Formats: sequence, structure tokens, C-alpha cells
Amino acid sequence: MRALLVGNGAREHSIAEALARDSDVYAFMKAKNPGIARIAKEHTLGDLNDNSAIASFAEEVNPDFVIVGPENPLANGVTDVLEEKGFKVVGPDKQLAKLESDKSFTREFMKRQNVFGAPDFQVCRSYDEAVDAIDRIQNVVVKAAGLVGGKGVKVLGDQLKSLDEAKAYAKDVLDCKIGPIPRVVIEEKLEGEEFSLQAFVDGKHVIPMPLAQDHKRAYDDDKGPMTGGMGSYSDSDHLLPFVTEEDRAKALRIMQETVEALYKETWKYYKGVLYGGFMLTADGPRLLEYNVRFGDPEAMNVLPIMENPLTEVCQQIVDGTLTSVDFQEKATVCKYVVPKGYPTSPVGGAKIEVTPVEGVRTYYSSVDEREDGLYMTSSRAVAFLGIADMIEEAEKQARRALSGVSGPVFYRDDIGTRELIQKRIEHMQKLRSAGTAAQQATDSTPSETKSVSQQPTSKINTEEL
Ligand code: GLY
Repeated sequence: MRALLVGNGAREHSIAEALARDSDVYAFMKAKNPGIARIAKEHTLGDLNDNSAIASFAEEVNPDFVIVGPENPLANGVTDVLEEKGFKVVGPDKQLAKLESDKSFTREFMKRQNVFGAPDFQVCRSYDEAVDAIDRIQNVVVKAAGLVGGKGVKVLGDQLKSLDEAKAYAKDVLDCKIGPIPRVVIEEKLEGEEFSLQAFVDGKHVIPMPLAQDHKRAYDDDKGPMTGGMGSYSDSDHLLPFVTEEDRAKALRIMQETVEALYKETWKYYKGVLYGGFMLTADGPRLLEYNVRFGDPEAMNVLPIMENPLTEVCQQIVDGTLTSVDFQEKATVCKYVVPKGYPTSPVGGAKIEVTPVEGVRTYYSSVDEREDGLYMTSSRAVAFLGIADMIEEAEKQARRALSGVSGPVFYRDDIGTRELIQKRIEHMQKLRSAGTAAQQATDSTPSETKSVSQQPTSKINTEEL
């Protein structure tokens, strides 16, 4: 088999590694990722947003399928161009990629198609609408509709200090100062713990991968600015220590209904990876956003422990014959090393030396291999992955690899540690017991005052999706 991979981050390095079990890998990259370059039979450098350059390379290498790592080429319609030329692509076309590239589309689509799982929201097309929505919802999250490299979401009480700031930010979005789409999504702020559910999708079947939790803040204890993700972990039972099987099933159901609804509305099969970013609340999971690709770093939590060859799964995706995918019962912890100052004022162009440590996987990200060594760009540089029976052991492994790095870098010490995970568990326990107490208070209303129609049947409908 011949596989063409588009992208050059650590996510793509882990995709290349998984593909190379059964495929000759060809890579189209923006910069020379040394890990991918070593795996690939051939690679070329170019602009990831240049569809015709990608298509030309595809014509040269004639792959059995193309797999696209990052969201931007998908949002730009690389799949449409490649499919027109007869190539099979793991990754949705421009219209279906709107699930990620246009948050207003996703919210309105799910509402139109009665797919449960969204918080209270309003898509606003004018400043007056945004002001009304902010005044109505009060405890708000303000989201730019378009792609802003993960930096378009602002939360009241965090990046937004007042409702006036929320309104001013909404105006900036509507004026296209933040992202390319003049629409802003105003949503209710949810309380809970976030988790990532990635799935392989062939248009009819949605096959889940183990859950993972990413850490978006730059510094320990979830402090500091938002980043692309400083690291992530997964557990050996493929759940997370604060997520039950029932929670996972509800999240998966939301994704299955989304894929069914996409077909109903567009007559197109979604083919690729769908990644739901969920908030687990006291009332169950709610969808924060969709991504139309593997997560970064979450790809590294799942691909190295996948039993089935990724090549075979990609073939099944493009053929529409996905059945099941198995994963080893292993825990994983991924830690990113990033340039000092990241993400606000990263040292750019600094040299980094990496001595791989035995038993720990190394995935290169925003680095460029030149004749005289390895240089960081301004983003996440290298990821290290520990794999073990327990999260704690996997964390120790990932940490061990950090000693092999020298250069102006930092990393988060706490990802995958017992202390941080215990905090997540206690947070969810507190929310769930507050939710149960509120439910019991409602249920203890004297029964003679309840009519049959007031019994909580409608709640069952929403709870059970
Ligand atoms: N884990 C964040 C992302 O992949 O967008």
C-alpha cells in the first residue's frame, strides 16, 4: 500500500509511524519534520494550504489513499480537489469540514437536525443580536465562528472580565478582526471536566478510540494562557478516571447522530476522523466543539496502542466498510516540550537537542531539521509518550525522556500525575453530588401535588438521548 500524509506536526509523526506498519509513506510537509522524513519513502516541502501543490505530489506518488492531518487543508477543500482527481481521502470535504471550520454551522445544524448535546447558545450575525444574547445568557462563552488556530474562544471570568468585554470581543469577531467569518456564537458557560472522544468514521459507522484528556493551559495547575495543548493522557480501560461508561456512551451517541444527520442533510458520507471535544457536566456530556481530524496531542494517546494497522482502517474508511478497531489495554501519557515564552512570546528559531530515551516514544512537532541541527519554530517542539499499565507509570516514563532535551524550553510537570487526576475526580464528584442533591430536592416535592404529566419522563428522553 502507498499512503500520502499531509502535515508535519507530532500528530502527523504518530500517523506516519502507524501507517508505516503496512504502507510506504509519502509525506507533504511545510517544514522537515525529522521523524516523518525518516519514516517516509519520499517527502516534499510546500504550503499546506496549496491544494494544487498537494494534488501534484499525489499525482507523482499515486497513493492508494491520502490522509490529511491538520484542519486547515480540509477547511480549504483539499479533499474536494484530490477526489476530483480520483484519489481516495481520509478526511472530509470542504462542506463537511465546516463542522470544525464554522462553529455557527455546527450549532445551527445540530439544532436543525435535533441532535442533542449543545449548551444554550445563539448564533449572532449583528452586534445588536450579540448584545441581546449576552444579556440573556449572562454567564457566557464567546466564540468566533471561523478557524482561529484554537484561540477564538473567550470565557467570562477568565479571558473576559465583564459583559462589556464580552460584547466588545463579539464586535471584533463580527468585524472579522478575529477569524474569517462575520458570525459569533454566544453560549452558556458549562461547568465540568473536558474530555476528547476521537472516532474513525466511514460515513455509516462511528468507531470510538480510547478517551483522552488534553491540557490547554501553558502552566502547571491549569494556569496561564491557552495553548494548542501541552499534553494528554488516556487510561487502560479506555475511559478516564472521572468518566463512566454511560458518559462515554452518551458522547458517542451524539457523534453517531451527527454523522447520520450529516448524511441526511448533504447526501454525503463523512469519511475520516471525527473528534468531539466534550464537557462532562453533572447532567452528562455536552458537545463543546467538533474537530474533523485527530487531536494533537490526543492522536499520540491512541495510535501507538492501536491493534489494527492504521492502513487497513484507512482503507475501510474510504471503502465504507469499517467494522471494529481494537486498542491495547494500556494507559498513556504525552508531554510536550515547548519553546520558552510559548504561546505569547516564544523564542523563535532556537536550537534544540533531543537524545531519545529508550522505551519512550519521541514525536517531533514544530521543528525544522537543518544541516547543522534541529531548530524550533515558535510552537510546540517535541512530544514524549509513555505507555504502561497505569497512568502513573506512563507519566514517569514520559518524564524520563525530558532529561534528554536541551535548549530554551519548558513543559508541564503535572500532566498525568496522581495529584492532578485526583483533582479532576474530586471536581466531578462535587458537581455530581450537587446535581443529585438538586434532583432529590425536586423529587421530594409532596407526591400528592404531582400530576402524572409532572413525573420526570421528559428528563428521561434527554438523559437517554
Ligand atoms: N487537542 C486540541 C486539538 O487538537 O485541537
